[in-house]
Amino acid sequence: RLRIVSFCDVNHFVKKLQEAKNIILLTGAGVSTSLGIPDFRSSEGFYSKVKYLGLNDPQDVFNFDLFKREPSIFYSIANMILPPEDVYSPLHSFIKMLSDKGKLLRNYTQNIDNLESYAHIPPEKLVHCHGSFASATCVTCKWHVPGYKIFKNIRNVELPVCPNCFKERAKLMRLYNPYVDGTSEFDANSKQLNSNEIERIANIKSYGVLKPDITFFGEPLPERFFDCLTEDMNKCDLLICIGTSLKVAPVSDIVNMIPAKVPQVLINRDPVRHADFDLSLLGFCDDIAGMVTKQCGWKFNHNDWNKLSSG
Ligand code: OAD
Repeated sequence: RLRIVSFCDVNHFVKKLQEAKNIILLTGAGVSTSLGIPDFRSSEGFYSKVKYLGLNDPQDVFNFDLFKREPSIFYSIANMILPPEDVYSPLHSFIKMLSDKGKLLRNYTQNIDNLESYAHIPPEKLVHCHGSFASATCVTCKWHVPGYKIFKNIRNVELPVCPNCFKERAKLMRLYNPYVDGTSEFDANSKQLNSNEIERIANIKSYGVLKPDITFFGEPLPERFFDCLTEDMNKCDLLICIGTSLKVAPVSDIVNMIPAKVPQVLINRDPVRHADFDLSLLGFCDDIAGMVTKQCGWKFNHNDWNKLSSG
């Protein structure tokens, strides 16, 4: 990608922040780690914590095909990613400040923790690129419930079942019990079933199971992601990527879609070598956001600022 802008230092960034009117913030798990929530790909991250499951790739805990075949795998670890309530980080307060100043075009967040809502970042300024725990949907009949309704099941490590499919599920479980309880494989071939029926039986364990509206690998991103991006791409005058490894497409493609004349800045603990930033500020994002805010001559309130230690 041919870059037309080039900034060299923090002073240019501060000036650009002061001038900008339509900032896109692309955020990831790193904006919540100061609250004790692990990111995904760091050595202490969520994917290293679920290695014990023995999956080929730990990311498969979010694989939609696997969820349909064995929903209990996701529900055995879902309690580990259940977001805390009513907390948000200094970085979330920084986003709110930019929104209050009328500078935030949009915050594209890959985070599913929904902590932006506790920081009162206006919903119209937010795109939950990978969905969130705010709601859940039945994989069979698409019955929709508020996310909190399945939190108790998640904490108890049990499958949340759709009230609409409850009876039919019980019937199917009785019918296919030898297969469903894992004691023997269902021999679909011997029953001469067509491919639709085989698929239905293969996915019987997830019949009537509610799934949080997190975008799994193999599922499309919410339409709002594409709608907002089409609207925002040519309005954006500064892109800041914060706390993300930019490893997951199509969100990672945003850096290539924004016009080349728009400055792009990375604020992250680790470098992101596969993207071409005008400036990379490496360190803890809460600290860097605090520093640039001060240099801009602004302030943001964050009640827990003093209690936090970024490590
Ligand atoms: P990653 O875990 O891939 O990357 C987090 C990045 O944040 C890393 O590069 C860290 O260096 C950085 N980081 C951690 N703590 C930080 C801090 N305090 N300050 C600054 N940087 C910090 O997480 P994401 O890029 O968000 O999908 O991952 C993207 C998607 O991959 C997620 O949305 C998730 C996952 O599969 C779903 O949940 C569906």
